[in-house]
Amino acid sequence: MRIMILKDYNEMSKKAAKILASQVILKPNSILGLATGSTPVGMYNELIKFYNANEIDFSEVKTFNLDEYYGLNKNNEQSYYYFMMNNFFKHVNINLQNINIPNGMAEDIEKECFEYEEKILQSGGIDIQVLGIGANGHIGFNEPDVNFEASTHLVELEESTIKANSRFFKYIDEVPKKAISMGMKTIMQSKQIILLASGKNKAEVIKNAIEGKITPTVPASILQLHTNVTFIIDEAAASKLESKIEVAYG
Ligand code: PGA
Repeated sequence: MRIMILKDYNEMSKKAAKILASQVILKPNSILGLATGSTPVGMYNELIKFYNANEIDFSEVKTFNLDEYYGLNKNNEQSYYYFMMNNFFKHVNINLQNINIPNGMAEDIEKECFEYEEKILQSGGIDIQVLGIGANGHIGFNEPDVNFEASTHLVELEESTIKANSRFFKYIDEVPKKAISMGMKTIMQSKQIILLASGKNKAEVIKNAIEGKITPTVPASILQLHTNVTFIIDEAAASKLESKIEVAYG
């Protein structure tokens, strides 16, 4: 496990963007695993800057997003499809055929989940997966007491997640209670993982994920077993680490 501690959110975003850009430069037809939430927005902005400066070409890149709300269609402003289009895809030369986000409106959810997994496998697997982390330790929408063996599936959101995400909605009642999410197994099969975290409210969970026991009550703790994972975190998110493990300063 590598830990990069950067001064602040901007530096964290730049570092993450450089790592993703290097991946795409090295392998133009990379398979990227992407995340939504507030944390990666700065990284997407940096990637758009690289694209505008002609430093990266996304034309051959394929993407798989971690999750999507159940019951929201693509045009809903709260859907993760909408988020990705607005924050990233429409600003770069990615081929829309190469974008994959679970369909939250699928009639047969089991089939949707199965086919999503199959598509990832057939693409050759995710080269690099970007993750945020919930204050409760979730990655994707894999909530505490997670099943480490799960692949893409329908999940029930925890009350704390619904509350945290309600900041994007007018009323808390509008926040979907379910989502389709890659499972822990799907995430762990990625060849490389970067997890981004910023701010004091993530310090406790970052400590638990990195220094605590590997436990289903902190889903992100399983990342300790991945052979190529990098935590890219700012000083505030790192502030509770006592780590004696390898630490690389940004
Ligand atoms: P955030 O969400 O980036 O908006 O803090 C992270 C997450 O819930 O995974």
